[in-house]
Amino acid sequence: MFRRKSMITVLATGMLLSSGVVYAQTNSAPNAQAATAFDNNVIKKISADNMYNTIKYLSAVPREAGTEGEVRGVEYIESQFKSLGLETRRIPFPIYDYKLNHVLAVVDGVDFKGRAFSGSGSGNVTAELVDVGKALAGTITDDVKGKIALIERGDITFVEKVANVVAKGAVGVLMYNNSANGNNFGQANGEVPAVAITQAQGKGLVEKLKNGPVTATLDVDIQKIEKTSYVVEAKLKPNKNKDTGQIVTIGAHHDSVPNGPGANDDASGVSAVLELARILVKTPIDTEVRFLTFGSEERGMVGSSFYVSQLPQSDIDRIVAHFQMDMIGGAEAGEDHPLGGLIMYTINGQKNLVTDLGASASSRMYDVAVPYGQLGRSDHQPFHDVGIPSALFIHSPVEPQYHKPTDTIEHISKEKLQQAASIVGAAAYQIVRPDTPALERARVAPALVDYDFENRPVD
Ligand code: BES
Ligand code: ZN
Repeated sequence: MFRRKSMITVLATGMLLSSGVVYAQTNSAPNAQAATAFDNNVIKKISADNMYNTIKYLSAVPREAGTEGEVRGVEYIESQFKSLGLETRRIPFPIYDYKLNHVLAVVDGVDFKGRAFSGSGSGNVTAELVDVGKALAGTITDDVKGKIALIERGDITFVEKVANVVAKGAVGVLMYNNSANGNNFGQANGEVPAVAITQAQGKGLVEKLKNGPVTATLDVDIQKIEKTSYVVEAKLKPNKNKDTGQIVTIGAHHDSVPNGPGANDDASGVSAVLELARILVKTPIDTEVRFLTFGSEERGMVGSSFYVSQLPQSDIDRIVAHFQMDMIGGAEAGEDHPLGGLIMYTINGQKNLVTDLGASASSRMYDVAVPYGQLGRSDHQPFHDVGIPSALFIHSPVEPQYHKPTDTIEHISKEKLQQAASIVGAAAYQIVRPDTPALERARVAPALVDYDFENRPVD
C-alpha cells in the first residue's frame, strides 16, 4: 500500500524524477534530518487555526459563481493577499445562465414533451429529420444541411455533437437518450434549437425514418444571461538577484455549488493557499510563486481554463509545477487510508514533478508516501492540458457531505488541514527555496521515494 522512509531510493550521482528532470547531486545525498530542517522553515509556521478561521468566514455564505456570495469571498481573499503585500489581481470572466421561456418539439403532429438543452439556441424551425447516429465527426453527410439532426446520446460530448451537425448546416438538433433514463440532459452553446427526448421516442423515430421522410418542428425560446465570475491571482516575486525565472502555482477554487456552504469544497483549499502565502512572503525564495483561487470550478473548471487561456506562452513555459488543493479538510473523508486518505490525482494517471515532490515531502515528514491516482474533476486539468506538471491533492474517498448543505465547518478536521498544507507547502518549497538554484541545477535535491499508484474510488 505505502512505503516507509527506509525504502527511499537515493542514487549516488544524480536522480531522475519521473518528470524527467535530473537532479544533479554534487552534495552528499540529503538525509531525512537535513530535509526536515528545510521543511521546518515552512511547516512549523502553518497554523490550522488560521485555516479554520478562513473556512469559517468563507462558508458562512454560499459562493456560487456569479452571485454576491462569490464576490464576498473574492473580496476577502483579495484583502488577505493585499495585506501580505502581494501583487494582487482580480481577473473577471463571463459565465452564462439560461432562462427557458418556452420549448416545443412536435414530430408528425405529435408533441414529444421534449426538454431544451441548457444553452440551446432560440428559434422556431420546421424541417425534415435526418438520422445521423451519434453525430461523430467525419460520419455526417451533407444531406443534413437545412434539416434537423436526429442524434443518439453517447461517446462524445453534447457540445461536440451539436458542433458537428451545425458545421454541416443542420438547423436544429433532436437528441435521444442512450438509456431508459428520461430526457433531462444536454448542453449546447446557443447555435441552434436543441431538444432532448427519451430513448424510446428516438428509437421510434429511427424506425419511422426508414419508411420515408418525417417532419419535425422545434420551437425554443431561451434567454441567455451573462454574469461575471473571478479568478484571484497574487504574485510573490523572488529576490531580483536570485531569480530562477521559473514559476510555481498553488491553487484552489473559491466557488461553491449553489446554496452549498462549501466548507471543505473548497474553502479548505483556499485556506491553505492563503496560509502558504502568509508564510512564503516571509521566507526567502528564488522562484516566483503565484497563489490562485478560481471561480466557476463547479461549472466545469471555467475559471482555471480562463486563467490558463489568458496567460502568455512565456508564462506557461516558466510554470514548472501546479499544486491544486480541493477538499483537504474533510473529517469524514478518506476512510482508513493512511494520511487521512490524502492522494494526488493527475489527469493522465502518470507521476510527475508535483507528485514526486509531494510523495517525498510526506515521506520525510510523516513516514508515509502519499499515493497517486488518476482523476480530473478539478482545476489541475487546464494546467495539465498546456503541459504543466500538475496534481490534485484531495482526501479520497470523499466525505458524505460532498456537494450537500451539510458541507459545513463542523465537518472540518484541523489535523487534516495541517497535514495537507504541510505536504503541499514542503513540496512547493523544494522548488522555490534559494538553495536549489533552479530545478535543472539543483544541488540539494529532494530524496526520491517509491510511491504507489492506487485505483481508489473517489465517491
Ligand atoms: N471538489 C470536487 C472534485 C471532486 C469531487 C473530485 C469528488 C473527486 C471526487 C469539485 O469541486 C467538483 O465537484 N467537480 C465537479 C467537476 C465538474 C463540474 C466538471 C465534479 O466532479 O462533479
Ligand atoms: Zn471542489
